[in-house]
Amino acid sequence: MPLAASSGSLFPKPTSTTAGDVDELFYFILAISVVFFAIIVGAMFVFIVKYRQRDDLEIQPSPDHNNVLEIVWTVIPGLLVGVIFFWGFISYLDMRQAPDNSYEIQVTAKKWSWSFTYPNGHVDNKLHVPIDRPVKLVMSSDDVIHSLYIPAFRLKMDLIPGRYSTTWFEAHTAGDYTLFCAEYCGTQHSTMLAKVVVHPSGEFDTWLDNAANLLKTMTPVEAGEILYTRRGCVQCHSIDGAAKVGPTFLNVFGTQQPLTDGSMVEVDENYIRESILEPQAKIRAGYKPVMPTYQGQLKDEEIAALIAYIKSLSTTNEATP
Ligand code: CUA
Repeated sequence: MPLAASSGSLFPKPTSTTAGDVDELFYFILAISVVFFAIIVGAMFVFIVKYRQRDDLEIQPSPDHNNVLEIVWTVIPGLLVGVIFFWGFISYLDMRQAPDNSYEIQVTAKKWSWSFTYPNGHVDNKLHVPIDRPVKLVMSSDDVIHSLYIPAFRLKMDLIPGRYSTTWFEAHTAGDYTLFCAEYCGTQHSTMLAKVVVHPSGEFDTWLDNAANLLKTMTPVEAGEILYTRRGCVQCHSIDGAAKVGPTFLNVFGTQQPLTDGSMVEVDENYIRESILEPQAKIRAGYKPVMPTYQGQLKDEEIAALIAYIKSLSTTNEATP
């Protein structure tokens, strides 16, 4: 694939099976565009000079049509557009049709985080994949349309609430890559990123075993800190006191906080648990009811770990207004 090999200058290095095809089609379209640009703009300049207004120029009746010319400028672009269509269509079908032996990962998007569920039940905010093995993504959204976009793999597919979409790739170079959301989905759209980690040969299974046993080997506070990042809380809740989309977790445990209906609530274990499972029940004053529910998505011990972590972020449990 000589074209793909030279593509490093314009795009991130192609590191998946389908990337070469996408790049070759792109350069084919680019070459056609350059040739037609030269022909059209070149002819325009020639005509500007040749037919510029002059005193000695006689006004001539405009010519009738030219059959040969019209057929040529219809058939040639028609054929080129046909080639582009079928090339792109075949690449698209390839991208949709995962090989039978693919490793399957469930992808869930919500405002504004990604979560990836592995066959053993482990949930992560990073997309970890084995190298040189086809990976099928079965994807859905909890709220609005998001779009999974991994430039290094030349991969992009929408996630739609209420249905599943699928795509797949096979990564050939170990390393870290970035996954973007490519569909505007609200205020934090531009921060809806995730890391893609392509594990070198043999290391993926070890990683998955260790990751799944996190809660068994750590204290609740340590596990809570990891879950805070891994399960996407970090997108909307700071731990440094800054208000983001949601309230900060710093020095909040044990305090009394005003709600949108004017009443007060004590931020204790019950309030945090309720806010995770039924986020719309009691909204803190000054914030919008935008948090998605984690009902059925966090185990009880995971919620307990998150509570322990939020507790650990409070230097004092005295009520501060
Ligand atoms: Cu999700 Cu943009």
